[in-house]
Amino acid sequence: MTVLNLALGPLRRRNGFLILAFVVFVPFCFFVVFSVPDVSSEQLLGQRLAELQVKLQYLDSMYRMRQEDLQQLTQHIDQISVPGENATGNGNAYGLPVQELRPEVKQLIKNMSGMHAATGLNPPIMLRLPSAYHFLPHLLDDPSSLRLAYLMSKNRNGVSVVMGVPTVRREKQSYLMDTLQNLVDGMTPEEANDSLIVVFVAETEVEYVLQVAKEIEMRFPQQVDAGLLEVVSPSPAYYPNLDKLRITLGDSPERVRWRSKQNLDFAFLMSYCQPKGTFYVQLEDDILAKPSYISEMKKFALEKIATKESWFVLDFCQLGFIGKLFKSAELPWLVNFFQMFYNDKPVDWLLDHLISTKACNWDKGNDYCKRDKAKVWLHYKPSLFQHIGTHSSLKGKVQKLKDKQFGKVALFFPHSNPEAEVVSGIKHYKQYTLERAYLGETFFWGLLPQPGDQLTFKFTNPITVKRFHFKSGNAEHPSDKFYNATVEVLPIDTTLYNSNGNSLNFTTDGYIVVGKFDGAGVASGVPDDTIGKVHSLRLHVHSESDNWAILSEIHIQDELARR
Ligand SMILES: *[C@@H]1O[C@H](CO)[C@@H](O)[C@H](O)[C@H]1NC(C)=O
Ligand SMILES: *[C@@H]1O[C@H](CO)[C@@H](O)[C@H](O)[C@H]1NC(C)=O
Ligand SMILES: *[C@@H]1O[C@H](CO)[C@@H](O)[C@H](O)[C@H]1NC(C)=O
Ligand SMILES: *[C@@H]1O[C@H](CO)[C@@H](O)[C@H](O)[C@H]1NC(C)=O
Ligand SMILES: *[C@@H]1O[C@H](CO)[C@@H](O)[C@H](O)[C@H]1NC(C)=O
Repeated sequence: MTVLNLALGPLRRRNGFLILAFVVFVPFCFFVVFSVPDVSSEQLLGQRLAELQVKLQYLDSMYRMRQEDLQQLTQHIDQISVPGENATGNGNAYGLPVQELRPEVKQLIKNMSGMHAATGLNPPIMLRLPSAYHFLPHLLDDPSSLRLAYLMSKNRNGVSVVMGVPTVRREKQSYLMDTLQNLVDGMTPEEANDSLIVVFVAETEVEYVLQVAKEIEMRFPQQVDAGLLEVVSPSPAYYPNLDKLRITLGDSPERVRWRSKQNLDFAFLMSYCQPKGTFYVQLEDDILAKPSYISEMKKFALEKIATKESWFVLDFCQLGFIGKLFKSAELPWLVNFFQMFYNDKPVDWLLDHLISTKACNWDKGNDYCKRDKAKVWLHYKPSLFQHIGTHSSLKGKVQKLKDKQFGKVALFFPHSNPEAEVVSGIKHYKQYTLERAYLGETFFWGLLPQPGDQLTFKFTNPITVKRFHFKSGNAEHPSDKFYNATVEVLPIDTTLYNSNGNSLNFTTDGYIVVGKFDGAGVASGVPDDTIGKVHSLRLHVHSESDNWAILSEIHIQDELARR
């Protein structure tokens, strides 16, 4: 059973923790003192020190969570134990054992004897701090409200970077798989070992959650198995009745519902992710990441810690709440803030308000406030994340916001191909012709493929296809893929067609099927070597598509050395 820890209370006792700090830092300081540093190793040490510092802060927050459990337990025991056993009459009217009083205080109380005022010391009343339940009372209506409804996890924790990817059911195209592919592709094996991607399916329909998890495991079996990718989903009782929210900011009920739920979703995701790693990065399910995003984020964070800047957010994207990095130890600030105001403001405004509250001196006015905010909200340029897609999950709201700081991304990858005449049965868009794509000058962009459409490459001289690789879709238009299409070759040896006993798949017009486009929009393979030389190779569309189709990579190899 996994239950979320939604609120953290501060506590002062941390002796055990200091011992831990001592054990970590003392050997480290010896190392610093006795090594003879040159400039670069000094920098390296600075980074290493920063890394240890922030890790320590994270461990400290974990330790405080345990302390909180302990304190709650102690209070519980205090309440259960029977009072009145040891009433010594030393000024306590409640019959509970109290601390030994100083002589001055005893004297004072003696002189007050008979007065009500003398009996007020150490009452058995404990102050109750408001908890998450005060702001989300519906959580008390169902004991399972904080229990997870779904979890696919290998329980990986203690990593450097945890990424939270909330996803909801989309009316139009979902970019979740493309987003995850991009995130996974952008990591080195070391980084993949030291990161965690948590996909939060913010839907309560079990079938849908299972479907998403299944799709993720089928697409990323290794990453799921290694524990890099997790899927989590909340109990329906986690949400209040979203039809009964207060209408705020003069928004439509639909918009209020959408943004209120998003606040609760972020609070859930952050609470779940908080104990799992040192840094937390908020992402979305329709984004594109620069290839080395993890190392760049980590480097920037450690630099800022090493130079002792007291930042709260590192911002790696100019848009909304995408690419915002926090120290996990500080996430409770956000979680509690979102819980308090979830029905009042959109989540990105709340972040802004929280930072203003922390940083601004209102005596000094707005200009100073901007400057003070900029000290704790540091922007990294150029941006590491960009939106893909044009449809926001809010019905009908077209999301065209793009981050201008992101810069250009490669939209195609050129390869050199054997000389061929190129025939496209799919009408191209603008200058994105198949001829130019085949020559590696651009990508091919075709309008709405129909069943039976073909893209044919007729080789000037027949070749033996040793290997082929076609990638459809590109970074900006990941859904413009070939969905149900095959790769086929026309052999020069026509006797193949009539010889039984071979396992080749022929089409009615004499082509051999050698491959097909997979769910990721890629067709890659090595044709059977009994096929021999071929006149041509074609891509053959079998289903109607709602999307246009892009070919961002075309690679036909007639000898394996050709690149
Ligand atoms: C009451 O408390 C005092 C001081 O802590 C102790 O010496 C004494 O034995 C206790 N008496 C009883 C009945 O528990
Ligand atoms: C006791 O209280 C009375 C009345 O307030 C005061 O006059 C007197 O000085 C006090 N005696 C001592 C020892 O504090
Ligand atoms: C990943 O982590 C495991 C266990 O911590 C370690 O044995 C392995 O060498 C790491 N792999 C890489 C590529 O860092
Ligand atoms: C050829 O057809 C068989 C049976 O339909 C199928 O299992 C196999 O995957 C096909 N091969 C190719 C390359 O499409
Ligand atoms: C692909 O198209 C063929 C022919 O129209 C159809 O029978 C098949 O079900 C389609 N496959 C998929 C996965 O859509």
